[in-house]
Amino acid sequence: MMGTWRARRWVIPVSVVGLCVVVVMSGCVLFEDERTAKGRKLYNHYCMHCHGEHGRQGEGYNWQHMPDPRPRDLSDEATMSTFSDEEIFSTIYRDMKDTTPEVGDPIGDEEFAVPTMPTFKYTLSEEEIWDVVGYVRTLHGMSLTYDVEARKKQLEQDLKAAEEELKQAQAALAAAEQRMAEAEAQAASADVGTDVDESEEDVADEEMDEEEVVLPEEIALEKAQLRYEQAKKAWENFTKRPRRLNIPRPDLNVSDDERAELEKLGKRLYENKYGCHACHSINQQGGIVGPPLDRAGFRLNGTWIYRWILYPQGIKKHTRMPNLGVTEDDAKALTFFLKTLRAPKPDRPIPPPE
Ligand code: HEC
Ligand code: HEC
Repeated sequence: MMGTWRARRWVIPVSVVGLCVVVVMSGCVLFEDERTAKGRKLYNHYCMHCHGEHGRQGEGYNWQHMPDPRPRDLSDEATMSTFSDEEIFSTIYRDMKDTTPEVGDPIGDEEFAVPTMPTFKYTLSEEEIWDVVGYVRTLHGMSLTYDVEARKKQLEQDLKAAEEELKQAQAALAAAEQRMAEAEAQAASADVGTDVDESEEDVADEEMDEEEVVLPEEIALEKAQLRYEQAKKAWENFTKRPRRLNIPRPDLNVSDDERAELEKLGKRLYENKYGCHACHSINQQGGIVGPPLDRAGFRLNGTWIYRWILYPQGIKKHTRMPNLGVTEDDAKALTFFLKTLRAPKPDRPIPPPE
């Protein structure tokens, strides 16, 4: 009896110590808040292959295959602490820039223009990106100071206020129209059998004939409508992943000269604007996150390529390939470039996409 009790007395302290060890070893995952946990999940799905599980250089399986510049060390507090939360946010949430010297887009000092770091502006919601920024902060032992909840609340309040304003403007217009209709009816009944003063009748007629009368309430409603749409868009950008509906069919019938131009442009955009080579290889050069594209010209149909490039999530919801915000013209050029990739069959079979 005594023996068993004595043995049992150790069970509780030992398991507490054991739990602590597990917590410390797993990077205190148990104490992670909900946002950081979401950020971790997104990071592991969309970032880890290039940046590594802990943000260290050389850690991600794609790292050594990437063209220059390769990712910096996200676990290094000395450099990472020099970036504000907003700066980190804007490297992930931005538009891609054509970095070709001389012919490319103008790039301002504040703009982050590294084609091999993809944008996630068109793949994730703003809220999700803030969650990822929060997680990136933990990689170098810091935490997010930006108040995501406050921003969310603000946007929600803005939307509610705009909605209320819109309702009021609609009611005001309805009331004004009602008043006008009543005035017209009154004028009409006054007309019947009454000896109306000529000049007064003229005025009434003029008002009724005037079809182009724009009520001030109408102008106010238009403004309220616009404000409401903006507030709604801001709220949706924050809370929802962007979608791209109605991708038009591309016109891929071009003259030989045009085709040659587009192929050249496409190759340039592939490397200097969208950094496709950070994830895909051609002739064994480039990243290994996506399948090699050596034989894309044989294997894939032009219209399919075009649609895939513009909105991969529309074809495969959770693909690791981000929507890079490619313009329709750029997608066409990229399609023509990929159609030139017609390498002979390799000795080894191409590994299937992940
Ligand atoms: C295809 C590889 C790749 C993927 C995927 C990728 N990155 Fe990067 N990232 C890079 C490269 C290349 C750079 C540029 C070199 C640098 O500054 O570190 C970079 C830079 C950064 C930087 C430093 C920014 C700066 O100002 O220098 C941060 C932060 C970052 N990435 C976060 C992320 C996050 C978060 C994700 C996932 C949502 C992600 N990256 C996905 C390749 C990648
Ligand atoms: C962050 C990495 C990444 C970047 C950047 C990227 N891709 Fe991809 N790509 C992928 C992955 C992963 C797949 C596999 C899709 C899947 O099954 O989820 C893929 C698939 C493809 C496919 C289909 C290949 C096949 O054989 O089925 C094409 C074509 C393609 N990408 C073209 C591009 C182009 C063009 C760009 C630049 C505009 C680009 N990709 C940028 C990761 C990336």
